[in-house]
Amino acid sequence: MQLPDENVEYQYQRLLTRPAEAWTPLAELQAQHFLSAEKLDALKPAVTAVRSRMAAERDLHTANGKEQPLQPGFIDLPQKLLDGFRRRQDASDLGRILRTATRLRELVDRVVVLGIGGSYLGAKALFDSLCHTYHNEMPAKMRMGKPRIYFEGNAVDNDTLQEFFELLDNTCVDPEIPEERWGVVVVSKSGGTIETAAAFRAIKAEAVRYYGWKSELVHEVLIPVTGPGGQLRDLFHAEGYTDDDIFTIPDDIGGRYSVFTPVGLLPAAVMGLDVRALLLGAAAMTKRFLEEPFERNPVLQYAAVNYLMTEEHKKTTRVMAVWSKKLEAVGWWYDQLLSESLGKAGRGATPLTVVQTRDLHSRGQQHQDGTRDKVINNVVVRQAKHPPVMIGHAERNEDDLNQYSRKGYPDIQDAAFQGTAEAYAEAARPTADIVLPSLSEHTIGQLLQMLMLATVVEGRLMGTNPYGQPGVEAYKRNMVNHLRATPNLPRGEVRDAVKGV
Ligand code: PA5
Repeated sequence: MQLPDENVEYQYQRLLTRPAEAWTPLAELQAQHFLSAEKLDALKPAVTAVRSRMAAERDLHTANGKEQPLQPGFIDLPQKLLDGFRRRQDASDLGRILRTATRLRELVDRVVVLGIGGSYLGAKALFDSLCHTYHNEMPAKMRMGKPRIYFEGNAVDNDTLQEFFELLDNTCVDPEIPEERWGVVVVSKSGGTIETAAAFRAIKAEAVRYYGWKSELVHEVLIPVTGPGGQLRDLFHAEGYTDDDIFTIPDDIGGRYSVFTPVGLLPAAVMGLDVRALLLGAAAMTKRFLEEPFERNPVLQYAAVNYLMTEEHKKTTRVMAVWSKKLEAVGWWYDQLLSESLGKAGRGATPLTVVQTRDLHSRGQQHQDGTRDKVINNVVVRQAKHPPVMIGHAERNEDDLNQYSRKGYPDIQDAAFQGTAEAYAEAARPTADIVLPSLSEHTIGQLLQMLMLATVVEGRLMGTNPYGQPGVEAYKRNMVNHLRATPNLPRGEVRDAVKGV
């Protein structure tokens, strides 16, 4: 049972038009750029019809041609995982994730997560938002057995990968010592994504070199997460792994909707996060989505408001303004979710993540005065995790801050937030707030599930299939053609260029 004050909410009243007492230029502008309550009311039947459709789709395993692909598995997954764990504990899917994570944490002190797009951004969002900001720099004692976490294979960047190898070379010398061991979680649903595959090949060669090709450890520290078929699974089968050694991403869950499959949960458990709290938050959001009326349903509210803002008010840039640096990667995760889900057939809002107050000093000018093509969704955390950093009193007061001596960082943040909201409202710039009571596994679970559900609702309202990403295939095809057309390095140079050979 979730208490109301633990709920993530969407507050959008600020962007609704108000009846003006007298004509003013601002009232005129707001009438043009804000949303009328009547328009929102008129959309409610369509939004609830979409919800019924999504509820029904949960039981469909095939869709007719036009509706392909259909991947609603993410909707019920959090509750299913929790139920399975309650019934079967260690033998359940979640139990297996927790067991494997514990084993890996005992074995190694560094874990690199390889993957790209939906196979990376969820884990990155969880790491940045929920782990200590300086987790990797903390001494082992402070990390309490949680390994350092790295992300690679999410671009084709020769130098960052070489520098990662350099880091391993300089910090991991003796594989007999657990503090000097490292492991890999490799994630690719298709198993054929070249960025991930190439990084894995290179890092696997490094692991074989470091641990010795006969060592049991090589098997134990390389953990695959992949779809039911594909090259990555074949590769691990050929290495002697059975299907029980491989984590499977269900067919009916697409990459960017997969954060609550082993794609996000295994890295989360390795990081030492409370995976059950994450799932409880996500399951609670699904329940609210399916059962609550519009007035108490942040999924329907967010989808309806943002749909109207994009489609009717032509606010084609959707800014997610996160008021915590720890949430930037959640913004990147949403960038991908929205772009790949709804950026189709010449339509779909363009997402943009900003961190406040940092980006008030870079993009703030444009958001206040620039093109009127934006709706801003703030993500606000009500309660900071740590005690406030106070301004305090200084003897000489050259910086003139003594007037705020009994104020702390949260007070400055609140003032900046209020000030920005007012400034945007006074310029008829529409803004709304996603409010998190605090930053925890439970609230992040709610937030991610809310945004995934809302993206599907929005897609259905637009008549755009939110699953699948046919547009991504074109670059992949061309890339492979170019790669095949490029002359190979002569053999000697290959030996010099490839690490560990
Ligand atoms: O959302 C998606 O499906 C994509 O972003 C994929 O996650 C991304 O392209 C990586 O694909 P794969 O997991 O097959 O390597």
